[in-house]
Amino acid sequence: MDQTSAPPQLAALGAPPAFATPLYVGTPNVGDKARVLARIEEALDHRRLTNFGPLTREFEARIADYCGAKHCITVCNATIGLELMIRALDLKGEVIVPAMTFVATAHALQWQEITPVFCDIDPVTCNIDAAAAERMITPRTSGIIGVHLWGRACNVDALQTLADRHGLALGFDAAHAFGCTYKGRRVGTFGRAEVFSFHATKFMNSFEGGAIVTNDDGLAERLRLMENFGFSGVDQVTYIGTNGKMTEACAAMGLTSLECIDQFVSANRRHFETYQDELAGLPGVQVMDFPGDEVTNFQYVILRLDAEKTGISRDHVCTALHRENIIARRYFYPGVHRMEPYRSYQPHAHLMLPQTERIVHEVLALPTGTSISTADVQLICRLLKTILAHPAEVTAALQRT
Ligand SMILES: Cc1ncc(COP(=O)(O)O)c(C=O)c1O
Repeated sequence: MDQTSAPPQLAALGAPPAFATPLYVGTPNVGDKARVLARIEEALDHRRLTNFGPLTREFEARIADYCGAKHCITVCNATIGLELMIRALDLKGEVIVPAMTFVATAHALQWQEITPVFCDIDPVTCNIDAAAAERMITPRTSGIIGVHLWGRACNVDALQTLADRHGLALGFDAAHAFGCTYKGRRVGTFGRAEVFSFHATKFMNSFEGGAIVTNDDGLAERLRLMENFGFSGVDQVTYIGTNGKMTEACAAMGLTSLECIDQFVSANRRHFETYQDELAGLPGVQVMDFPGDEVTNFQYVILRLDAEKTGISRDHVCTALHRENIIARRYFYPGVHRMEPYRSYQPHAHLMLPQTERIVHEVLALPTGTSISTADVQLICRLLKTILAHPAEVTAALQRT
């Protein structure tokens, strides 16, 4: 899909020149660089590089406080965080997950030989649909993992009711949802546990990293053992474990990002509103909105494109944008159920996923964050509008090359 080597083509249709350098979705936000470096220097001076140093401890306390949760266990990335949460919850057999997610949600289960059972989504929020989840429950089901996709919280109440009714554990992949709320309460306190990602592409990053947040004392204790080889004391291993620890350098970046979070959200919000204003009223084009009564991080700008109304496929829009150096992404095409090994293990999964199957062809993530300006967003919109004003010409030109 990356067509940056091909020449731009919209100038011939009267559009302004393409971007000189590529604009990527997920370009990292870097907050107060001097503060990150000072923290890392201090860690080096004290020779505390990992193994629950003061920066990691401080980061954990601040995340727990921010989310209003009892416990935060930082981890080296959210994928390991999900694996640990799944294991600490003693999930087995089958676990229900949406197919409209990053592949790590399912891999964290399959890696432990637990079958991810893919469930359809709500067509408005694109989050797991509790009614669809109920249809996927079998005697082997042990849990449900909801994903707060693109920062919009799942219908937590419906999922919790369902989980309670069937005696299932409920956890959340909250990789996209740090700082967001559900019914006014911050994500991080729902289900048995929630897992955040602080990967460099997330609006709040710790280079690589993540955190498991929970109010459950027993679960937190197990997670702390599991992320450190099961060590409960010197020379004392009381549990099966792995190495999931966050480093001090990552915590230095994470702490500083947390201090800069308002600046990151405000850039995201400004860009989101610019996209909304610039693209308002275009037939077949919708900038996915956020619930007005919740706090959100605005970190993903997602376009929904209805090809019947725009006259051009989402994929052709994406390729045309790439040629102008706007590296939009088809998150999360083609759906996890169509990736290996799931495609081979569950070749008929798509039959239960009509909304997912449709929506993976409609969505397109656009660049945002502190690395771009309002003028950049306006130019992206002008180029996009040129594509949408000439659907047949752009499609024909792409088909010729
Ligand atoms: C929904 C979702 N879950 C899990 C992950 C994995 O996060 P990490 O890269 O921190 O392992 C990602 C990362 O992009 C994600 O988008």
